[in-house]
Amino acid sequence: MKSLIYLSEGFRREMRFVAIGNANVDIKIFVERIPNPDESMDALAASVSAGGAASNFAIAAAKIGVESHIVACLGGDNLGRIYLETLKRCGVNTSHVKVVEGMRTGLVVILNVLGEDRRMIESVGANDELTPSDIFDRRDLLTSADEVHMASVRPEIAESVLEVRKDASWDPGMRIIRRYRSEVWSLLSKTGKLFLNEREAEAISGEGDPLTYITKIASKGPNEVIVKMGSRGSLAWVEGEIYKVDAIPVKVVDTTGAGDIFAAVYLRARRRGYGVEDCLRLANAASAIKVSRPSTVNGMPNWDEIQTMSLMFYGKRA
Ligand code: RIB
Repeated sequence: MKSLIYLSEGFRREMRFVAIGNANVDIKIFVERIPNPDESMDALAASVSAGGAASNFAIAAAKIGVESHIVACLGGDNLGRIYLETLKRCGVNTSHVKVVEGMRTGLVVILNVLGEDRRMIESVGANDELTPSDIFDRRDLLTSADEVHMASVRPEIAESVLEVRKDASWDPGMRIIRRYRSEVWSLLSKTGKLFLNEREAEAISGEGDPLTYITKIASKGPNEVIVKMGSRGSLAWVEGEIYKVDAIPVKVVDTTGAGDIFAAVYLRARRRGYGVEDCLRLANAASAIKVSRPSTVNGMPNWDEIQTMSLMFYGKRA
């Protein structure tokens, strides 16, 4: 039987997740359209908040009731200091965050244009300072976790993590796939669970049809392949079976962080022993709630909200 982890504040958490990868400050701007050259226009809304796929995952994990730790690099600047406070306020354990003096914290400008996919401009800053030895130094943390999840990490980091935890999950993201496609492809044979969105699955496999690309990616050897398909739902390959679950239709306001909470919810539900379709339903429900809210950090739903949304739409209790 799984032992419960008791925290000093008196909370009981049934599992521990470790997120490894990017922590960015997201500058999010909502606009009606992209301005023309030399044109200045008013934003519809704007925000500055903690972001980065690993950090979003860690915050989401804490929100759904998991003991959450993060291994990431922040700059020794004011943004890094504010960022650390945000993570702590969200219930994420920051003991394994590396603060790199003289470096800037990662920065991403996210343009949310009405009715279009978001556009992102990224300056990696301190994120690139994460090294394989940082991973080996945290071996005890990694082995103590129920789930280790990597997001936006370079292949050399993924390889070090997979040496310690063969079952670690990986959401490489488009930036890493574009830069290191062949290295990512080779590492798939060692990866536990692989999370991709549709564009990433197409880019890495060179295939356009979902059943073809998921089968081709699975043939490389990861234990599970999960594809987040936005308004088309989600797809998973697990032990030779393919599962597809429809999305919950909602008005999309902001997709940032939706894929990250999807991964956290899927992993928690899998760890609890739920069937693959139930895990996809809950993960879809979490993403649907998140995309309907404009904030990444404050927009992450809790487990009760996710279960209710899933039950209301799919009519099944997971
Ligand atoms: O996964 C979403 C994240 O990707 C954003 O928060 C942004 O920082 C980008 O890295």
